[in-house]
Amino acid sequence: MTELDPTKLPRHLAIIMDGNGRWAEQRMLRRIVGHQRGVETVRMVVEQASRLGIGYLTLFAFSSENWSRPKTEVRALMTLLQKYIRIETGRMMKNNIRFNVIGNRNDLPREVNQILDEALQQTARNTGMVLTLALSYGGRQEIVRAAVRLAEEVRTGGLAPERITEELFARHLDTVGLPDPDLLIRTSGEMRISNFLLWQLAYAELYFTDINWPDLTIDQLYRALADYQARERRFGKTSAQLIGRN
Ligand code: FPP
Repeated sequence: MTELDPTKLPRHLAIIMDGNGRWAEQRMLRRIVGHQRGVETVRMVVEQASRLGIGYLTLFAFSSENWSRPKTEVRALMTLLQKYIRIETGRMMKNNIRFNVIGNRNDLPREVNQILDEALQQTARNTGMVLTLALSYGGRQEIVRAAVRLAEEVRTGGLAPERITEELFARHLDTVGLPDPDLLIRTSGEMRISNFLLWQLAYAELYFTDINWPDLTIDQLYRALADYQARERRFGKTSAQLIGRN
């Protein structure tokens, strides 16, 4: 098993869970079977991240663009999501996980929103890992929503435009209260951000693997984390500055 330094874990891990459809198609199975298997990987990653002491885990579960998939697939994904949340809320309580959602919830079916609200309420006082699901989420849409909120505040007279800083802008994003991700993992060989956390990923380390999401193992997750631990994060500074020589 890959060795990890427990003192150098990402505080916030974000994941684009890709390749469920291809995993199923390669096996002549329906795409939804790939999503069902994908849920098993979600369980494994949530458990591992929480056990390792990662503070924040954010999973891209359904994008704004995913609404244009065939209706049957969208419906099946929504059903899967409801089932997952209902079953997992108990485990979140046991593991002290606080549940959180980002994205445009107005577009989600009423039943899904109801279950999300229950999970949010039940886990609200938990103090362990924050598990965020990005649902009906798009980074550009989120940035526009933040801009609209700020414009409203300017219009109603409470906010002077020159007071809009990066910090204030970030506080109007869905991710308010979450630190920026330190590491982004994307599975299935695609090397794109695909409209995920556009603002927040500014300084994130990116890790891509060819493995399809349903096939991701604990060791492959650890390898991604070990790869992250071997990197030097400079945030625009020089190496010498980072080790205090300059
Ligand atoms: C990408 O695979 C995955 C999704 C669009 C949805 C991810 C959903 C899950 C893992 C299951 C439900 C989630 C939770 C949190 C219960 P894809 O369909 O784009 O794969 P492809 O690129 O191979 O077609």
